[in-house]
Amino acid sequence: MKIKNICCIGAGYVGGPTMAVIAQKCPEINVTVVDINESRIAAWNDDDVNNIPIYEPGLSNIVGEARGRNLFFSTDVDAAIDQADMIFISVNTPTKTYGIGKGMAADLKFIELCARQIARVATTDKIVVEKSTLPVRTAEALRNILDNTGNGVKYQILSNPEFLAEGTAVDDLMDPDRVLIGGDIDTAEGAEAVEALVDVYAHWIDRDRILTTNVWSSELSKLTANAFLAQRVSSINSLSELCEKTGADVNEVAKAVGMDRRIGSKFLQSSVGFGGSCFQKDILNLVYIAKSYGLNEVADYWEQVIIMNDHQKRRFAANIVKTLFNTVSGKKIGILGWAFKKDTNDTRESAAIYVVDYLLNEQAEVVVYDPKVKPEQIYADLDYLNTRPEAENRASVTIVDNSHEVAEKAHAVAVLTEWDEFIELDWSKVYDDMLKPAFLFDGRRLLNRAEKEQIGFEFYAIGS
Ligand SMILES: NC(=O)c1ccc[n+]([C@@H]2O[C@H](COP(=O)([O-])OP(=O)(O)OC[C@H]3O[C@@H](n4cnc5c(N)ncnc54)[C@H](O)[C@@H]3O)[C@@H](O)[C@H]2O)c1
Repeated sequence: MKIKNICCIGAGYVGGPTMAVIAQKCPEINVTVVDINESRIAAWNDDDVNNIPIYEPGLSNIVGEARGRNLFFSTDVDAAIDQADMIFISVNTPTKTYGIGKGMAADLKFIELCARQIARVATTDKIVVEKSTLPVRTAEALRNILDNTGNGVKYQILSNPEFLAEGTAVDDLMDPDRVLIGGDIDTAEGAEAVEALVDVYAHWIDRDRILTTNVWSSELSKLTANAFLAQRVSSINSLSELCEKTGADVNEVAKAVGMDRRIGSKFLQSSVGFGGSCFQKDILNLVYIAKSYGLNEVADYWEQVIIMNDHQKRRFAANIVKTLFNTVSGKKIGILGWAFKKDTNDTRESAAIYVVDYLLNEQAEVVVYDPKVKPEQIYADLDYLNTRPEAENRASVTIVDNSHEVAEKAHAVAVLTEWDEFIELDWSKVYDDMLKPAFLFDGRRLLNRAEKEQIGFEFYAIGS
């Protein structure tokens, strides 16, 4: 079975880049990405490809090449569903903020709405692909809705979790470690659907890197991958605190440990804590699933990864207050970086949000600079926490458009995102512009201690 028309519901950080790459690599397949968010779609269609809504190195060129040829962005969800042979669901699956499972379970509201819309609109057989990260056995719920509310149309449901990392999405999509496709491989129809999706990826990925499994293994593998990655960060972060007490240096420890090939060197960088839309939500999901099966030890084991991450953010902020003579009230604190990591404008669950919220509770005056995040996003992130009235966030947080303004008359500067440009700053000027003693807090182990101390900074870095 050859796929001719693909529809992707959800034009976000996953849907946008994955479909752009599929369209570029498969010029004979029409790919339409749809979303209910009109302004997001308008931005994807902006004449100037530099204005697409998601910043990823290399992405605008790919969109520029494929858009209008076989890559389309639209708000007409029904039409795209109707025309497609294969429908990717790539909508958000946030943690539930209400009701049963609040704060833990995945909110599948958006997924269910997609399923109902597909069932209502489809008039020909469809392969429905879960691209969103979902709890184990969600495919079953999807099947139930599609089979029971549809109009006799036949559906095959596949799980095809996305492993891209923001900031390197294009490279990850071009050259993935593996592509995972879960399907009903024991039936002829299921195997045929799996093969159809394998064929799409085989346009540019070796077949031996395309793994096929049953649906539930595929769903669980995605949660497991994120849990393992986050666990490494929490593991090294837990040791960063011990390093600070003992005189060991966490970077030296990470290097020594990471050179062991059984362990490997990736994801051993200590920091102010992991962020992003996925790690926390996916682990909470895993914890919730384990609990729902009565597996309390399993649940507790994974929950500790989150507890350690929250602790790391809190202790970084508390250390700023303690170092500044136990009060930051009325003091100007400069924040360099708001995105959850470099090379993305995504701020979801960014450590910066929580560190700044803590400092605002201590009545600090905060000034923020990030090269890619818009001011309204920074305020929205703080407002979302609901810690104080929105007007207070605006009164206490100033957002500036260059690093040096952050430093002017600041009592302290904290680096919270590892943007390359912060390495190259004129740090002598930063020092000159600050009040003295000039405190510099490196939440990313980005800066060279000896150089900064030589300039005159009182320098603190995580894990040393
Ligand atoms: N962001 C990542 O790095 C990443 C990596 C791997 C997997 N994932 C998973 O992929 C999924 C999507 O993540 P994302 O970061 O792209 O989210 P996102 O919030 O950036 O994008 C989701 C989009 O879906 C749209 N949407 C929601 N309901 C819709 C509906 N009924 N019809 C049409 N559009 C609808 C929203 O308007 C939004 O634009 C999540 O399950 C996430 O866990 C994310």
